[in-house]
Amino acid sequence: MSEKRALVTGITGQDGSYLAEFLLSQGYEVLGMVRRSSTVNFDRIRHFQDEVTIVQGDLLDQMSLLDILREYRPQEVYNLAAQSFVPTSWKQPVLTGEFTALGVTRMLEAVRIIDPEIRFYQASSSEMFGKVRETPQNENTPFYPRSPYGVAKVYGHWITVNYRESYDLFACSGILFNHESPRRGLEFVTHKVTYGAARIKLGLADELRLGNLEARRDWGYAGDYVQAMWLMLQQDEPDDYVIATGETHSVQELCEIAFGYLDLDWREYVVSDPKFFRPAEVDLLVGDASKAHAKLGWEPSVSFEELIRLMVDADMKALQANRG
Ligand code: NAP
Ligand code: GDD
Repeated sequence: MSEKRALVTGITGQDGSYLAEFLLSQGYEVLGMVRRSSTVNFDRIRHFQDEVTIVQGDLLDQMSLLDILREYRPQEVYNLAAQSFVPTSWKQPVLTGEFTALGVTRMLEAVRIIDPEIRFYQASSSEMFGKVRETPQNENTPFYPRSPYGVAKVYGHWITVNYRESYDLFACSGILFNHESPRRGLEFVTHKVTYGAARIKLGLADELRLGNLEARRDWGYAGDYVQAMWLMLQQDEPDDYVIATGETHSVQELCEIAFGYLDLDWREYVVSDPKFFRPAEVDLLVGDASKAHAKLGWEPSVSFEELIRLMVDADMKALQANRG
């Protein structure tokens, strides 16, 4: 049996799949928590599924979390599971609070009760900065969340800090700015744009309907960001860190790059549709990750343009393969 064992909640998601791969490459035994469903959704982990141990649990179910920690005794827990899509959080605010806020407490309680020596990572979010109070945002910037998701993440952040201070747990909150990849869910704007542009290029669609083109985000590559999660748990002391590229781009710039890479003019295809506007918007995010640079030695390795191009390439390849 390998020396280190880590539990990853949300292993079927974008970040969980990259983190599990990274931990395997570091020699970890990886436990991946999945919730029961009538059909398996292992698309993102199929290529290494045999190398991890899948355990069944749900952030809504306290006993399942206690049982997993009692049976498998991981030394590290990465809590990535959440209802992570911001628009859904207005449609299902209570469920979002149960998963994304109280789910963190359930996992922390399991850690406290079963083994308080476990090192715990909480997937916090730049959505907590919301209507930003300063630019760029760092670990000391006050939060002003603008969605039920953002509010739930603020709870998750503070309960992590509180368990660290109350019970001396090694609990870290990583405040990660948007990070993307070919494994990103199709409803998030980067993947919606790269996939939509690829479909238009291949004659499978003739328009792409989006919401607010003025919104600005600090977008990085998910593969880089999961390494920061691991680095946080390898330090001598638990702490909270902003992880970001320090660059901000608009949704319009994203369209320009994705369509331009395919020799298309985005203005001929993109329609701004009020249906995709949010009840309250986060207009601008840009992070200051200097603490992570200094203390973790973490740096992003993929530029915004490279990221969008690699997503377009992956979508073109997948769509062409589907056409046979
Ligand atoms: P994602 O692709 O939406 O994955 C979410 C994961 O959570 C999925 O594996 C999902 O399982 C699981 N999950 C949802 N509810 C659950 C429950 N009740 N019990 C157990 N598992 C549950 O999200 P992601 O982009 O990888 O993000 C990972 C984490 O980082 C999330 O907490 C997200 O809020 C946070 N975050 C993400 C970003 C970003 O830009 N990606 C930035 C900051 C913070 P199913 O497959 O069964 O649905
Ligand atoms: N999804 C989506 N779809 N967003 C659109 C669209 C559209 O058609 N058109 C414009 N946007 C704008 C949104 O209004 C938002 O300002 C921005 O694009 C980014 O939206 P998303 O990609 O859905 O991501 P997000 O920033 O709301 O949330 C993501 O990042 C957070 C970190 O800041 C998620 O991954 C969260 O889980 C994560 O915490």
